[in-house]
Order: sequence, then structure tokens, then C-alpha cells
Amino acid sequence: MHMHDSFIDALRQASPYILGHRGKTCVIYLPSELIADGPRLRATLHDLLLLHHLGLRLILATGLRQQFNQALEKAGIHSEFSAHQRITPLEALPLLAAESGRIASRLQALASCRVNLDAQRTLPPLITQGNWVIAQPRGVLQGVDFQHTGRVRKVQIEALRKAVDIGQIPLLTAVTPSFTGELFNLNALDQACSVASALRADKLIILLPQNELPDLPRQLNARALRNLQHQHWLLPKLSEVTGAVRRIHLLNAQSEGVLLKELFTLDGVGSLIFADQYHEIRQATIDDVGGILALIEPLEQQGILVRRDREKLEAEIANFLVVVRDSRIIGCAALYPLDENSAEVACFAIDPQYRNQGIGGELLSAIEQRACSLNLHQLYLLTTQTQHWFSQHGFEEIAPQDLPAPRQRLYNAQRASRVYRKTICAGANP
Ligand SMILES: CC(C)(COP(=O)(O)OP(=O)(O)OC[C@H]1O[C@@H](n2cnc3c(N)ncnc32)[C@H](O)[C@@H]1OP(=O)(O)O)[C@@H](O)C(=O)NCCC(=O)NCCS
Repeated sequence: MHMHDSFIDALRQASPYILGHRGKTCVIYLPSELIADGPRLRATLHDLLLLHHLGLRLILATGLRQQFNQALEKAGIHSEFSAHQRITPLEALPLLAAESGRIASRLQALASCRVNLDAQRTLPPLITQGNWVIAQPRGVLQGVDFQHTGRVRKVQIEALRKAVDIGQIPLLTAVTPSFTGELFNLNALDQACSVASALRADKLIILLPQNELPDLPRQLNARALRNLQHQHWLLPKLSEVTGAVRRIHLLNAQSEGVLLKELFTLDGVGSLIFADQYHEIRQATIDDVGGILALIEPLEQQGILVRRDREKLEAEIANFLVVVRDSRIIGCAALYPLDENSAEVACFAIDPQYRNQGIGGELLSAIEQRACSLNLHQLYLLTTQTQHWFSQHGFEEIAPQDLPAPRQRLYNAQRASRVYRKTICAGANP
């Protein structure tokens, strides 16, 4: 494909996301490893500014563990840890404040660089620091005094909102004041989580080095996250946030263009935690057959779905996923492996009462995940009335003759369904 064609294609694909994200509040955590990596930081800042110019309301939180460690070492100050938390002595605070200031200045300088703004020749956005978050001491835990290590006491929600309203990008760093006028070392990731919750942000985006990212499915809901909590130190923190933040994205900080790929492509590149689900998608069991029949019978009568009787459904129930809300089946889909590389998606339906809420999209993602976990790379689909929906979800029309041979033999020429194919998990998590 010609370079310009792929650019046009990419821009067109991105356009619904550009509109969808405009005006959305997004708290983004940048790890200290990223801050230490000059070229990667410059590239990330460039992408952050692009998000800002596209109308996302950004709040940044930067880690500075690496920089603080180096400064402590240079000053000969020994820093102890207890339960993976740093104990911050009073004499370390000036170093922490200096590193915080250095990082803020670096980001402000990068944000002011004309190269990043050239297209519009606008003035740079203000990356502002403030006492948005108020700390309190972590205190004495199991006999260990954490000294000037703090935790969040309060978030100045209105002040933060106002700053974002007037186009600023608030920056949260580790040095945080308390109501007693002291300073505390407050973990920036904890601040990002607290601020995202307090603001009921649309998104919390956490960038981490690849080796620190938990091994999660591409998409999961809050309940699935709770079940995995013990697997990684980050997950209990995120679980607490899911009640207030709609989407949490976990991304590899070292991957080029990761923010743009995650936000402006259909499949994204990281792990996405949906926090606003009141339904669950799970494997169907024999007890679900009645619910599935009730859902699909009207669609069979309209000729949208192929007829399946109770016996057939019972025999094939292992192939089905269902969407369940309040113990009611409100969606279903089946995945029938065709050969060692491909499967057919079938019997795909969402209860009319629950359509247009993105549930069909979630169900398709779940089916794709299941196919990926079975090491299948091609999905086929036959449809008579739903072509557009599937092509909007990445399926491409092919000729019936392009179906795998065993399925081709069963193709019903009278029904004359259109045939679609989608390649999946080609580039699994980078
Ligand atoms: C197709 C279907 C599964 C989508 O489920 P859903 O939960 O409503 O899907 P989403 O909320 O993710 O997407 C809704 C979008 O798809 C569009 N859409 C719904 N049905 C469509 C169709 N047949 N063709 C094209 N677009 C369609 C909606 O207009 C809506 O568009 P918008 O986002 O621009 O408002 C659901 O409409 C359904 O069950 N249809 C009947 C069964 C069917 O056709 N199954 C496929 C058999 S092959």
C-alpha cells in the first residue's frame, strides 16, 4: 500500500475515536524509567501534547523513584524500605523537592518546544504544579515509622477541574504538602489513582516498563480484575479505582506511540479494564440453554439467525459465551473451530433492550480473546443483515469460495449469506 494511502486509512479509522475522546478527563501516570529515557520522554510528551490539542483533558503524575535513588546515593543518604514502601527521612526531602522541580522543568521545556507545536504555532500548554493533593503521614505501621512518607489526605477537586478547564495540564509529583505545613513523599502512582477516583475521570492510563506490567488479558472487567488481584502488586490499587473510573489502560511505556495506538485504534495495544460493567460475559452452561433460546428465537423467525433447536444448542453449548445481567441472558455468541487456524463466529445476538451500549463490541472482543487463547488467527462469519456492524469491527468481505474447505461444503447457497473474515491476535501485546 502506498504510504499516503495507509496514512489516510489510519486517519479515517481514528476519526471516531478522536471525536469520542474529546472533552474526556484522563489521568496519566509516567514512570521514572520513562522520565530518565530522554528520547522516549520526548516522543511521549509529543504524543501527550497531541492528545491535549485533540481536546483530551490531561492530568499527569510522574514517578521519580530512579532519580530520587540516584540523588540519595550521591548525597550518601541511606534509604530504607518496609513492606515495599520507602521510609523518607527529613533530610531526604530537599533532594526529593529538587528532583521534582527538575522533572517539572524538563516537561515544561519539552512542552514549550516549538517543534512539538509547529503545526499551529500556538502558545504551549501550561504544565502547572500546585498543591492539588494534600498529604498526611503514612504513620507508624507495625512499629515502623515511615517518617516523611505520606499518603493522600485530600484532593482539591474543584481547583484541579478549573486548571484543566482553562487548558492547563496539572502535573503531580511526589513532593506534597500537608495541612500542618510539612512536606511528604507521596507515591505518584497512588496520587494518580486518588485523583482519577476523586475526579471520576473517564480514563486512568498507567504507563509502566514492560517488565513491571502485570500479565493481563487485553480486556477485562472489574470483577475479573478482583479475581486476579493477588497476582501483581498493582492490581489491588486498580481494583479500588474501578468504582469511580470508567476505563483503566495499562500500557508499555517503552513502546513507540503506545498512547496513540491505544486510544485511536479499534483493538488498542495494552490491557483495558472496564469499570462500568453491570453485566458479565462468561462461558455458557447447560442451564443457559433456555435463556439463549428465548434470545435467539425472534431473530431466527426474522431470518437473521440460522435455526437451532434445543438439542443442537445443548450439544454445542461449550462453544457459547453469554452476556448475563441480573441472572438474565442478554447476549450470546458461539465460536466453532473450523481447522487448526480458524473458527466461525455464529449465533451472535444482543437483547434489543440492551443494544447500542457497546455490549456487542465487548462480546466480540471476548470471542476474539477466546479464539486467541485457542491459538486461532482467522475468524469467519456469515451474515445476511449485519454486514456493516461486522465490517466496522474489522471484518472484511470475502467470497464464499474462500471459506475453509469443510465450511465451504456446508455453505447454503439459497440463504446466500455474505461471508466475512478477520485476522486476529496477529501482533499480540507488544
Ligand atoms: C449487531 C448487534 C449484535 C450489535 O449489538 P450492540 O450491543 O447493539 O452493539 P454495539 O453497542 O457495540 O454497537 C452499536 C452500533 O452498531 C450499529 N448497528 C446495530 N445493528 C447494526 C447492523 N445490523 N448493521 C450495522 N450497524 C448496526 C448501531 O446503530 C450502533 O451504531 P452507533 O454506535 O453508530 O450508534 C445487535 O444489534 C444484534 O443483536 N442484532 C441482531 C442479531 C444479529 O444481527 N446478529 C448478527 C448475526 S450474523
